[in-house]
Amino acid sequence: MRRLAAGNWKMNGSTASLGEIRSLLADHPDPGCEMLICPPATLLAPMAALAAGTALSLGGQDCHQNTSGAHTGDVSAAMLKDAGAGYVILGHSERRADHGETDQLVAQKALAAREAGLVAVICLGETGGERDAGRTLDVVGAQLAGSVPDGASAANTVIAYEPVWAIGTGRIPTLEQIAEVHDFIARALNARFGSAAGAIRILYGGSVKPSNAGEIFAVPHVHGALVGGASLKAADFGAIVSALAAF
Ligand code: PGA
Repeated sequence: MRRLAAGNWKMNGSTASLGEIRSLLADHPDPGCEMLICPPATLLAPMAALAAGTALSLGGQDCHQNTSGAHTGDVSAAMLKDAGAGYVILGHSERRADHGETDQLVAQKALAAREAGLVAVICLGETGGERDAGRTLDVVGAQLAGSVPDGASAANTVIAYEPVWAIGTGRIPTLEQIAEVHDFIARALNARFGSAAGAIRILYGGSVKPSNAGEIFAVPHVHGALVGGASLKAADFGAIVSALAAF
């Protein structure tokens, strides 16, 4: 299994930010793990020009569930692919919160992504209130059941466990808590998809930094990270890539 360091730039970045990608590629020409950056859609094409022939993969942050049509402001999976993406993040908690995305919609988008030849990075995670109420595994299990469509395999799916309360807060779960949820996800994937699930990568996301990446990557069933804030600077993201490559 090739481990995956994924950066989610969210609604950040302009053409001036392409310098960070140049630095990342200069410092990590042969990173020893898979490197993925998911910039805003406006930057996919210029970033793809820089990434051509390098070890850097690119992805979108969302796609529409339909292939084309009258959906003002939306982007289809095929458009992302055409602009240079190989991946698309789906069901991020910010999309679920800001745009009311349901598990059912996320599953439809994942099928659209698969149809277009993109790998879906499907995000799951409990809120702070749900964790405090002892409902973490119920919530993550329900999201997994509802958001991941049938036929998922390592070739078309990555799972990202992102506790909502850890995103952008500087707080992370204990390593035991991360281990518990990742083990739970691995078992759930195995129960549903059998041997096809064996190589589906499970990323941890939420306040991953150079300073905590190593200990998180040592947790069983953690196959990489989905990184927000720390992915915006090549030095920080590069340090996380190096920490992952050490495993
Ligand atoms: P963060 O975001 O690393 O800034 O906490 C992670 C994410 O939302 O994917």
